[in-house]
Amino acid sequence: MPSAPVRVLVTGASGYLGRQLLRCLPRHWHTWAGYHSLPLAPDPRLTPLALDLADGDAVRGVMEAIRPHVVLHLAISRQPASFDSIIVQGSAAIAAAAAAVDARLIHLSTDIVLDGTAASYDERAAPCAEPLPGQPDPLSGHGRAKARAEQAVGALHPNPVIVRTSLIYGFTPLDHSTSWLVEGLRRGETVTLFTDQIRCPVFVDDLAASLVELAGLAFTGVLNLAGPVAISRYEFGLLLCQALGLDPSGIRPEPTPDGFAAPRRLVLADGLARSLLATLRRSPVEICRPPGARL
Ligand SMILES: NC(=O)c1ccc[n+]([C@@H]2O[C@H](COP(=O)([O-])OP(=O)(O)OC[C@H]3O[C@@H](n4cnc5c(N)ncnc54)[C@H](OP(=O)(O)O)[C@@H]3O)[C@@H](O)[C@H]2O)c1
Repeated sequence: MPSAPVRVLVTGASGYLGRQLLRCLPRHWHTWAGYHSLPLAPDPRLTPLALDLADGDAVRGVMEAIRPHVVLHLAISRQPASFDSIIVQGSAAIAAAAAAVDARLIHLSTDIVLDGTAASYDERAAPCAEPLPGQPDPLSGHGRAKARAEQAVGALHPNPVIVRTSLIYGFTPLDHSTSWLVEGLRRGETVTLFTDQIRCPVFVDDLAASLVELAGLAFTGVLNLAGPVAISRYEFGLLLCQALGLDPSGIRPEPTPDGFAAPRRLVLADGLARSLLATLRRSPVEICRPPGARL
């Protein structure tokens, strides 16, 4: 990468991870911050960029105009009707356009592209792009679309980085699923959290800093970039309540019901990330200390 300035395109910069990433931009980055429906507040360190991934011509045009050194592709849709057009086709458009301008591509993927039947997964694990015939499908529509996006990115870019991460959480502001938990408990509802869905939650600040560091390295390929500790969604919910000073008695621990499409055990082995990156990803036990006990 050139010494300065480094031209960086971030898609999904207005999303949860994207906004945290924008808070830790290195001084030598010139960043184009892609958004779709939520314009970004003016910031002298970046150039806001309205971009719809469903518009392949627009994606190509933006890439040719900016000619970024690095593309951090975070954008997704959370609407099932747009999983294919935005997550799969949009990622394909980004990968092809990034390849055409010789940009380093860091594509954000997820642990839920995996089936959840192995004790743990290293970077050699293949995403489940298609359901296995005659077997219950462990993947959600979102997970399946992300699995197909990984395949498309691998086919259209010669040397992408595919980052698989897990539940992303943080407090300022709260992430999507912690907001759901907090709102439910504050309304006095019973909130069910699964005891048999094991994940490696990652603190958003640590993930964002890891991605910034990764952008400057030469590494290509799949990289697990999750938290260092495997924990059930239920145990994680208790830790979040501890961090937020909330009474957890409204949480009901339960196993995942039959037929619910979600992989059970997703432990991402993080040895490669630890050997590559100086940035540490801390465990929820370290992050979720009670208020007043945090550093
Ligand atoms: N959140 C998690 O727990 C988690 C776990 C594993 C992996 N990941 C991965 O991490 C990445 C970031 O996730 P996140 O939670 O930060 O996502 P998010 O908060 O839902 O943000 C999604 C982003 O995508 C943008 N977007 C939506 N539709 C678009 C379109 N048609 N064209 C261009 N951009 C569009 C949104 O823009 P507007 O808001 O402006 O519309 C927003 O900036 C994703 O790749 C996700 O798969 C997340």
